[in-house]
Amino acid sequence: MKSIKKIAILTSGGDAPGLNAAIRAVVRSAIFYNLEVIGIQRGFEGMIDGDFVAMDASTVSNIIQRGGTILKSSRSDLFKTKKGRAAAFKQLEKNNIDGVIILGGDGTFAGARVFLSEHKIQCVGIPKTIDNDLFGTDFTIGYDTAVNTAMTAIDKIRDTAESHNRLFFVEVMGRDAGYIALRTGISVGAEAIIVPETRTDIAHLVSVLESGWNRKKSSMIVVVAEGDTAGGAFKIADIMKKKFPDYDMRVCILGHIQRGGSPSCADRVLGSKLGMAAIEGLLKGKSNVMVGEINQKIVYTPFAKAVKHNMEVNKSMHKLMEILSS
Ligand code: F6P
Repeated sequence: MKSIKKIAILTSGGDAPGLNAAIRAVVRSAIFYNLEVIGIQRGFEGMIDGDFVAMDASTVSNIIQRGGTILKSSRSDLFKTKKGRAAAFKQLEKNNIDGVIILGGDGTFAGARVFLSEHKIQCVGIPKTIDNDLFGTDFTIGYDTAVNTAMTAIDKIRDTAESHNRLFFVEVMGRDAGYIALRTGISVGAEAIIVPETRTDIAHLVSVLESGWNRKKSSMIVVVAEGDTAGGAFKIADIMKKKFPDYDMRVCILGHIQRGGSPSCADRVLGSKLGMAAIEGLLKGKSNVMVGEINQKIVYTPFAKAVKHNMEVNKSMHKLMEILSS
């Protein structure tokens, strides 16, 4: 195995709060272990174009508290092609890069797997996505901040809903996964939570809302994950309006505000831990793996396993919500 002297780091896919904390940790840990660090701008697009910048301790000063990613990100269609991946590898060779650290989610790691099957380079992934839908870590970087942002927003919606005796359908992010919806829903005392992992049960929702009205609840909140099988909050609200024409209902889509903002303490600490563990993993010869934290212990999971969504819906969270909101 080639000894590692120079590494590159990139951020790919949707941004997530805490990315800058992880970038800082990677750069500063690399310097601690006498490695040279290159930052690749705009994810795999920048790797293909050779958009590389040298990084030192001061390039990551005062970024731990900032949302977004100082390296910028992209979802690269070109990297999905063999030609694009070959061009990317050429740039790594040209710049004498021995190892790459990739901060990404499901799509990024799937792409990295193909890349590593075609080209010889060491690579460790760090899980970041507000959706929390990766196997091999309890939490992904960005998830905690996103659920706190959604919770704060829905608390505000509750105030106005209470004042007007309204029912709100609030759509949160998560096109394939209901983790944001479930955790946020529990934290705001939602009357119902709708997730993509299970078929949206309209009859059940009708009975939940009816019992709320019968109990004379002065407001109700239904949290809907954007990827739900009925087609999102607007579609569900339309169905409910036809069933209950006399009730006052509103829809609110939280959207990309969930991706921005200063990272929570948990995301800063997680980013810092995983950044250092990624460098230590590379130095131990690890490759084609994602570093994660399970029960407060650092673990390395092969990309092949990490990208398999842990799609089982959390039944105990659903039960908790149903009992507490009834
Ligand atoms: O994967 C994270 C995520 O925020 C999803 O929850 C959402 O469906 C998607 O990205 C939105 O992507 P974009 O920013 O490209 O619209």
